[in-house]
Amino acid sequence: MKITAHRGGSSLAPENTLAAFNKAAELGCEWIEIDVQLSLDKVPVVIHDKTVERCTDGIGAVSTMTLESLKSLDAGLWFGEEFRDERIPTLKETLLLAKNKHLKVNVEIKLYPQDNLALLCEKIKKVIIDVDVEASQMLFSSFNIAALKYMQYHQPQIHRGLLVETIPANALLLLAEIEAYSLHCNYVFLKEQQAQWIKKRGYQLYCYTPNSPQQVSLHWDWGVDMMITDVPQAYIKTINLN
Ligand code: G3P
Ligand code: MG
Repeated sequence: MKITAHRGGSSLAPENTLAAFNKAAELGCEWIEIDVQLSLDKVPVVIHDKTVERCTDGIGAVSTMTLESLKSLDAGLWFGEEFRDERIPTLKETLLLAKNKHLKVNVEIKLYPQDNLALLCEKIKKVIIDVDVEASQMLFSSFNIAALKYMQYHQPQIHRGLLVETIPANALLLLAEIEAYSLHCNYVFLKEQQAQWIKKRGYQLYCYTPNSPQQVSLHWDWGVDMMITDVPQAYIKTINLN
């Protein structure tokens, strides 16, 4: 039973912040998942939404704000007073923390319409080289197959996982095209037969975002390898009880 702390384990601390990643490490999670996009001045930053409204006290699109403006926002207070002064982390800060805490990182390459795919991938690559993260400690994922294709060419040593909502009929073709390691799908729509089909072809199969172990009690038997969840603590409890 493998668990990834989604957005760093976003039920325990504000999502995609260093506080969340520290919590995941404290819990003993092996993996965290983070969402990465570019600031206006082309620094890879860790935040999920296209805009900062939901998770900070600011207003505006991430891509229209410099790192300095993004860093001026409070990214913790919306979640709880004890997280006041938490900031939107850069990818570099996140990878340094992860390296230090021995956390493996699933970097979701987050592309919104009009984003520059090649530039985002290049900047991510630069940070990974700069922090000197071992390939085994990382995984790229994206709903954007072109981004994964780019990484396949430019950083082939790091595994690639294709993100889908439901498994498409041409899934095997897509997976082959990017020499994928894994397929990540929404647990709600996964069928047993599809799971067996993917597993038989030798791919890792990950499910997002089941927030209670009961929701996926059968999925493990179908061969699912990893649950990407906001509530890793619930699974760790279950694992410890077994
Ligand atoms: O990686 C799984 C999940 O993060 C994909 O969806 O919207 O939470 O980034 P989202
Ligand atoms: Mg994500």
